[in-house]
Amino acid sequence: MKAYLCSRNAHKAQELELLLPGWEVEPLDAADWPDEVGETYVENARAKARFGHGLAGADRWTIGEDSGLEVEALGGRPGLHSARYAPEGAPAIAKLLGELEGVPDRRARYVSELVAISPAGEEVRGTGTLAGRIAEESRGSGGFGFDPVFVPDGEERTVAELGDDWKARNSHRARAARGLLVALGAAFALAVAGCGSNSSANRRVLAAFFSYGERARKFAPMFPHEPGSLPCLLPGGPPPAKKLRATCSTDVSLVKRERAVVTLTEAWNHGAQAHTWFFFIRQNGEVESVVQEGVPAPQGKR
Ligand code: IMP
Repeated sequence: MKAYLCSRNAHKAQELELLLPGWEVEPLDAADWPDEVGETYVENARAKARFGHGLAGADRWTIGEDSGLEVEALGGRPGLHSARYAPEGAPAIAKLLGELEGVPDRRARYVSELVAISPAGEEVRGTGTLAGRIAEESRGSGGFGFDPVFVPDGEERTVAELGDDWKARNSHRARAARGLLVALGAAFALAVAGCGSNSSANRRVLAAFFSYGERARKFAPMFPHEPGSLPCLLPGGPPPAKKLRATCSTDVSLVKRERAVVTLTEAWNHGAQAHTWFFFIRQNGEVESVVQEGVPAPQGKR
């Protein structure tokens, strides 16, 4: 799965690629990004993702991310304005330590909001926070931004000392990415449950399902999924592929907490075969395996 990250921050693209298994995340190169004028992180993340979607067209996903550091004793500042607080790195850290000099309450948290837009324009979101405190002095060389002065709850070292592997498992962005993956899984279940319905929203989500992952994409042309009677392409048919009439039914069941099986049954009424496809789908939306069973269709249904 290929995605553009709609941000100038190359660190974030690297982090997200580690956080979204199976995704290739490339920073989108744009001259004029929209100003961060939203009143929430989500609004800013969505504005970036939508702007990128407009530039990139419909050939891949676009991801917008907005994050910030909220310091309790500063009433939640710099928060939404973290990127503009001071030049990132040493100057921003010096300003923050200056504002907190002699302040005993060091509590703070990082917040990350991710908004992903599918090639079909569908939106999926994930949210993550990381609670901690601001250290008295800067330590460590990993991460970026305020990481040298941010000590997560339950740790003694700063995020910059804990390093990028720790960040990939525990950061606010890691948590938001996990939320995004779970939301994608839910979107897929919804997509299949929506199969057979006339609603354009259901069709768009279904399109998102079949655009996710190499395996799902491979099957997409075989399942155009018009409700009721479908024009289907017979697998393996010589080009140009013949359009055949069929009807379909779908079912979603949870085999294990973390794994769902989606059954797509195509009842071909062209006299060839009735096919049942079992898609084993992980909670993060990845198609784990696909099993196809075929039985002869009843005679005289041509
Ligand atoms: P934006 O999301 O590009 O608007 O910028 C977020 C700002 O929040 C960054 O410039 C950093 O100052 C801060 N920030 C967000 N995430 C992190 C992080 O993982 N480590 C350190 N600073 C962060």
